Amino acid sequence: MAQIRLKDVSKTYKGGVKAVDKLSLGIENKEFVVLVGPSGCGKSTTLRMIAGLEEASAGDIWIGDRLVNDVPAKDRDISMVFQNYALYPHMTVFENLAFGLKLKKYPKGEIIRRVNEATEILGIEGIVNRRPKQLSGGERQRVALGRAIVRKPKAFLFDEPLSNLDAKLRVQMRAEIHKLRLRLQTTFVYVTHDQTEALTLGDRIVVMRDGKVQQCADPMTIYDKPANKFVAGFMGTPPISLIHGRIVKKERKYYFDDGKFQVKLVEEMYRIVAPYEGKNIIFGIRAEDIYDKLFVSEASPENTVHATCEVVEPLGSEVYLYLNSGKSSFIARVGAHNRPEVNRDMDFVFDMSKVHFFDPETENTII
Ligand SMILES: Nc1ncnc2c1ncn2[C@@H]1O[C@H](COP(=O)(O)OP(=O)(O)OP(=O)(O)O)[C@@H](O)[C@H]1O
Ligand SMILES: [Mg+2]
Repeated sequence: MAQIRLKDVSKTYKGGVKAVDKLSLGIENKEFVVLVGPSGCGKSTTLRMIAGLEEASAGDIWIGDRLVNDVPAKDRDISMVFQNYALYPHMTVFENLAFGLKLKKYPKGEIIRRVNEATEILGIEGIVNRRPKQLSGGERQRVALGRAIVRKPKAFLFDEPLSNLDAKLRVQMRAEIHKLRLRLQTTFVYVTHDQTEALTLGDRIVVMRDGKVQQCADPMTIYDKPANKFVAGFMGTPPISLIHGRIVKKERKYYFDDGKFQVKLVEEMYRIVAPYEGKNIIFGIRAEDIYDKLFVSEASPENTVHATCEVVEPLGSEVYLYLNSGKSSFIARVGAHNRPEVNRDMDFVFDMSKVHFFDPETENTII
């Protein structure tokens, strides 16, 4: 168990790539923090600096009360699990799990006790005598987790541990990591580029881009109150629709106008958008906040948008509709039985209390 703190940590690789840029972050004891962002944003580099596998170019890293900048990886008392689980192919599962403890010269009884405990936690007691090539992907992943667990570290660092698994197994292992976390009561730092994993696993999510933190908050805040257009666009499936247009004022009411449609803002937003009157703005609406007009009672001309349905994507439990207003594209999520024909013109109702606005220059959230 340990807190982890990073203060203004930067990493510039040889050749001048600035992978991490003045990153500051405090991770509480027993907290599960997820670092998420697109490929190359510096997630693995950050994790590897915490682990001691990469030296920070600037800044300080503490684990517990100890400044660890100059502490080698093996003395930091943390376990890291990688994407390619790197098991020893010539050893059985038991030997793979015991290997690190043997190197550290633990007594035999203690090694057996710890390995048994880990296999029980992970439900892999039945495969301890097999070698890695006799295991499924999910089982190999469990063994890799087991190798981290037996060390009883102060913190676990996971770098995309599920990305080698197929979609179904990934969902299953995600639930298992959740259980593991409840059982182990330790600090976790988990790297992924999968926003669903981030939203489901994290107590807090750190969204990164180009080596910088964009937002650090609990999952619901990240989803409902994104700090900027990037965070809004990165988190959520299907992605939030972002529509360029202008704010117009008519008879003391404010509207968003994309050039083809106009929707009225809710009054609570008037004061905040007032400085943008007549100016360009980016409007954001999530798929679940757009409804087929046939199914809503609160439709009015001021929140209804006429659009052509260009693509219908049935997903079993729901349907995504790819729509076009004649100027802008957006995506709605509707019920499984609502399957309009392609190229049909339809009316959609926007839940205007849920929409976002972004400044087109800074890309920061206005609402
Ligand atoms: N050893 C290295 N030498 C030089 N540049 C590197 C090195 N490792 C990473 N980089 C660069 O640093 C940046 C951040 O890399 P990093 O591996 O931290 O990204 P990431 O967020 O983990 O991406 P991914 O999701 O693809 O794993 C990238 O531009 C990458 O090309
Ligand atoms: Mg990586």
